[in-house]
Amino acid sequence: MTIAVFPGSFDPITNGHLDLIERALKMFDRVLVAILVNAGKDPLFTIEERVRLVRACAPDERVEVHSFQGLLVEFAHQQNATVIVRGLRAVSDFEYELQMAMMNRELAHDLETVFLTPQTVYSYLSSRLVKQVASLGGKVPNLVPKLVVDELERKFGTKRNG
Ligand code: PNS
Repeated sequence: MTIAVFPGSFDPITNGHLDLIERALKMFDRVLVAILVNAGKDPLFTIEERVRLVRACAPDERVEVHSFQGLLVEFAHQQNATVIVRGLRAVSDFEYELQMAMMNRELAHDLETVFLTPQTVYSYLSSRLVKQVASLGGKVPNLVPKLVVDELERKFGTKRNG
């Protein structure tokens, strides 16, 4: 039984994240989505909201959604995970991701980081841009689940008729 942890801020979850969860499910027995509590980024969605949204959008029984604080490697050990899954969208992600992977390896040699790439259509997608567009009244229904579209409209008060 191989357990993979898929960590991130998920503020909010996007179709790119869901694409990666599906890919990870093809490779690993269970995927634990691990949402960092204090992203230090002043998140738009509370940790409870982020957990709820991921649970609702990724209902597969082999997916578990957790929040975590502190070191990712400690969370992974607590959960008996042996793999860390991260997404690589473009070369620009690589330096940051490599730094994290190397630091996590330094901290825990028994964990392997695996990078997965999403469908091309999601390769430019980020939670940050989704929030920016939503804050300005734009909609991206092809890039985030319907539930997230609704929650973004609620947050920004941009619900319009029709
Ligand atoms: O979606 P993000 O914001 O790029 O995810 C970053 C995350 C949560 C994976 C990273 O910040 C993290 O693992 N934080 C936990 C603290 C930690 O373990 N730091 C040492 C390894 S870099």
